Amino acid sequence: MTTKKESPQAQAKPVTAPDIRERKNGEKICCMTAYDYPSALLADRAGMDVILVGDSLAMVVLGHRDTLSVTVDDMVHHTRAASRGVTRALLVGDMPFMSFCTVDRALRTAHRLMGQGHAKAVKLEGGAAVAPQIKALTDAGIPVMAHVGLTPQHIAKFGGFKAQGKSADAARALIEDAQAVEEAGAFSVVLEAIPVEVSSLITEAVSIPTIGIGAGNVTDGQVLVQHDVLGLFDRFTPKFVRRYAELGQASEQAMAKYVMDVRRGLFPADKNTFFMPDDQVDQVRKIKVKKKK
Ligand code: KIV
Repeated sequence: MTTKKESPQAQAKPVTAPDIRERKNGEKICCMTAYDYPSALLADRAGMDVILVGDSLAMVVLGHRDTLSVTVDDMVHHTRAASRGVTRALLVGDMPFMSFCTVDRALRTAHRLMGQGHAKAVKLEGGAAVAPQIKALTDAGIPVMAHVGLTPQHIAKFGGFKAQGKSADAARALIEDAQAVEEAGAFSVVLEAIPVEVSSLITEAVSIPTIGIGAGNVTDGQVLVQHDVLGLFDRFTPKFVRRYAELGQASEQAMAKYVMDVRRGLFPADKNTFFMPDDQVDQVRKIKVKKKK
């Protein structure tokens, strides 16, 4: 393993939820998911403002078909691991499916994500319907990032991972949802997979920052799933993803080369091998080894 010098970002002042709130119409907010120590460390060093331990964990790390089966225990475990890699970015823990269906459950889940997972804020999916939960959390001192549009926890209702807000009525409902979460106290709102026209209207209609994923280039910030960006998840790639690397292919090739080297006796080489000091070699050769029958 190589050791690397800390980046300037790692020495900078930690980003807080109020800092993000103040970035409305300011410098674009850069957000990416991470799920463990190395992925959070790299995202933090790269200069992310927000690192989200998303429930996309279910799909890109745990191999589930959707996000519905990830548990609060899973989220706490991974948020805690990610927290060890974060120095500057705001660490946000995602509340999994049904873990905030009542105010009481929302408070318990957020307590665990912050108390045991060391998140500095939580995210939950939904608009006006979850406004009471957002209000209770913010009243309890817990910063909340909201999430409207294509909310993957509702794919059963949507009939799949489908873009939302494509009609005027649906657009109106989304604007109302975004205003409701702001009113309830959210410090920012994720807009997922909606037409850019709707995203633009929402960004104008609320005074909290909008963070887009498949919502065009009009939001106050952007978020992507790290495994999509790095080419580590290839089951499907949504239209809104830009791949910046093909680490999945590179990793597979590296491991295949290791397999070949081991099979051909090319690994380990002398430089990977420990040798005895010269004065011990003669003595060790005299050791008689009895073969076990
Ligand atoms: O779980 C997740 O990764 C998310 C982002 C895509 C916003 O909710």
